[in-house]
Amino acid sequence: MEGFRENVLTEQLLVSLPESPLAQTLSQFNGHRELAEEILRLKQERNAVILAHNYQVPEVQDIADFVGDSLGLSQAAAKTPAKVIVFCGVHFMAETASIICPDKTVLLPDLAAGCSLAATINAEQLKTWKREHPNAVVVSYINTTAEVKAESDYVCTSSNAVKVVNSIPRDREILFLPDLFLGAYVKEKTGRDMEIWPGECHVHAGITPDIVNQKLAENAGAEFLVHPECGCVTQFMYFAEKGDFNSQLTHVFSTEGMVRHARESASSKFLVATETGILHRMRKQNPDKTFLPVKDDAVCQYMKSITLEKVATSLRNMVHEVHVPEDVADRSRRAIGRMLELA
Ligand code: 13P
Ligand code: SF4
Repeated sequence: MEGFRENVLTEQLLVSLPESPLAQTLSQFNGHRELAEEILRLKQERNAVILAHNYQVPEVQDIADFVGDSLGLSQAAAKTPAKVIVFCGVHFMAETASIICPDKTVLLPDLAAGCSLAATINAEQLKTWKREHPNAVVVSYINTTAEVKAESDYVCTSSNAVKVVNSIPRDREILFLPDLFLGAYVKEKTGRDMEIWPGECHVHAGITPDIVNQKLAENAGAEFLVHPECGCVTQFMYFAEKGDFNSQLTHVFSTEGMVRHARESASSKFLVATETGILHRMRKQNPDKTFLPVKDDAVCQYMKSITLEKVATSLRNMVHEVHVPEDVADRSRRAIGRMLELA
């Protein structure tokens, strides 16, 4: 849970430090200082914690108590003693937090923050697929609705999908959903015969082999960090197998894995194939290293719909609460719980 130590305000909430370096924190918020002050005050009054995904706009990441990937955010939700969680991410992430923490109030600052990948399958479609494969084990990526999770045996994230699939007995058939690129990656890594739902994220699917190849040619020697949802990931697995390109410089990671690798690697230049919001933390943590997006317009409009103003409104008016009906929450909690146990 190292992300929890990254932002000083977390320590106030989780470790109860006697004094917070508030002035130092607020100095980051040039032009938003009043708003930042209000958010910090309301946060204390409401006993709230702010969780933010790695793709959030810089000022939202900077006000958050914890910034991380889908797995880290779920773990942070499970762990926080705060009564209110302001979830700066997309709807399925806030739903997951609400399922994990039914006694807490989970707020999403903009209810329109959806996910094109999660929208590629609904519970009825999954039920039909399951009827066609009655003995299969269903593994759902966390980027799914609560109703889809309720119909699943396991949930996984990009950082533990291989581990989750490897934990399933080898003689069991697997239905993997909804991302086809992540599915192909997991299939290759585990050697499992999986059925894969043909869903994709519009941002990552747009990071195609052509775009990546051009950037790699322009930046020889740079490390290449790629998210497994990317449209290029299968091509690089294929070429790496054939020994056709320098696979030692290529790493497939979740967003948090990328941030960690960037910090620990001795390299000075990185090409990053995922949503561009991730660059903020990488640059902040490694001012001497160079981070280049593989695609400048790899931007998720859903993630970017959360602003500092909306975070303040959320805390001020206690909106918009994300609540999952109890029966759906109970059924999806089993699948999420299996993942959290493995993590
Ligand atoms: P991570 O869990 O790797 O942060 O991915 C979440 C996501 O939505 C990717 O688009
Ligand atoms: Fe969903 Fe893609 Fe946005 Fe991630 S980047 S939240 S998968 S639409």
